[in-house]
Amino acid sequence: MIRPTIIAGNWKHNPKRSAGESLWRGVIGGVEDRRNHSDVDRQQLEVLIFPPLPWLGWIAGCAEEAAAVGWGAQCVSECTTGAFTGEVGAELVRDFGAQWCLVGHSERRTLFGVDDNSVARRVRQALDHELKPVLCIGETLEQRESGETRQIVSEQLEKGLSLCEEGEFPVVAYEPVWAIGTGVTATVEQVAEVHGFLRNRLCELQGEGAQATPILYGGSVKAENAADLLGLDDVDGALVGGASLEAESFLGIVDAGFACRSGRKPETF
Ligand code: 13P
Repeated sequence: MIRPTIIAGNWKHNPKRSAGESLWRGVIGGVEDRRNHSDVDRQQLEVLIFPPLPWLGWIAGCAEEAAAVGWGAQCVSECTTGAFTGEVGAELVRDFGAQWCLVGHSERRTLFGVDDNSVARRVRQALDHELKPVLCIGETLEQRESGETRQIVSEQLEKGLSLCEEGEFPVVAYEPVWAIGTGVTATVEQVAEVHGFLRNRLCELQGEGAQATPILYGGSVKAENAADLLGLDDVDGALVGGASLEAESFLGIVDAGFACRSGRKPETF
C-alpha cells in the first residue's frame, strides 16, 4: 500500500493575471523538468495547485500542460447546481477538469463562518462528484495554549468525515492556525506529535484502510524547513500558502518532496 507524497500550493486570493500566468508556467516547467530527471513517478509524488476560481477556467484551457500537476478549487459549495447565485460547487468544478478541492481551510472557518457540519456536507459534495477532497483542520493559538489541540483536531476530523461512507478516505491537512502566514512554523516535535495522533484517530474512525491516507502539514512551510518536516514518519506532504506564490520557492519545496521520496524505502509506507 503506497501513501503518496503531496506537495500542494494554495494560492489563496492571489495572484493577478500576469503574475499568475508566469507563476503557473514556472511551476509546470519546473515540475516537468524534475520528473524528466527522476525515477519518482506521480503515484509516489503528486504536485497540486489550488488557484482562485477564475484561474480554474484558464487552467482548464491549458489541459495538456496541466497534465503535469493536479489542480482544484480552494472551496466548494454545499449546494448542487441550480439557482444559488454566487456559489460554485463540486459538480461544476469537476466538469471543468479539476480533480481536487480543499475543504474547511481555517480561513473559510474563521473568516466566512464555515462550521464542521458545513465542512462535512462539502466533503460529501466533493466525493459525490469525483473530486478528491483535502480536509483541513487545525487549532488556534488560544486552543493550543489551553491544551486543547488534540480535542479540537479530533473533533474537526470526526465531524469532517462524518458523511463519508466506508472506503472513502479524504486526504487530511493539519494546519495549525497560529502557523499560517505568520512565519512561525510548528516545530518538528509539535508536528510529529499531532500527525501521529491524527494517524491513530483516522484508523480508529475509518479502520486500517486509513493507513493509506496522506496527512499533509501546512503553516509557513518554506524550502528551508520542508526537508525536516517531510522527513517525519506521518507527514506525507505540505500545503503551502505564501511560498507557493513564487515558482522558485515552491519548486524548492517540491525538490524536498522528490528528495524524501528517493530516499524512502517502500517498507515504510
Ligand atoms: P502559509 O504557507 O502562507 O503559512 O499558508 C499556509 C496555508 O494556509 C496553506 O493552506
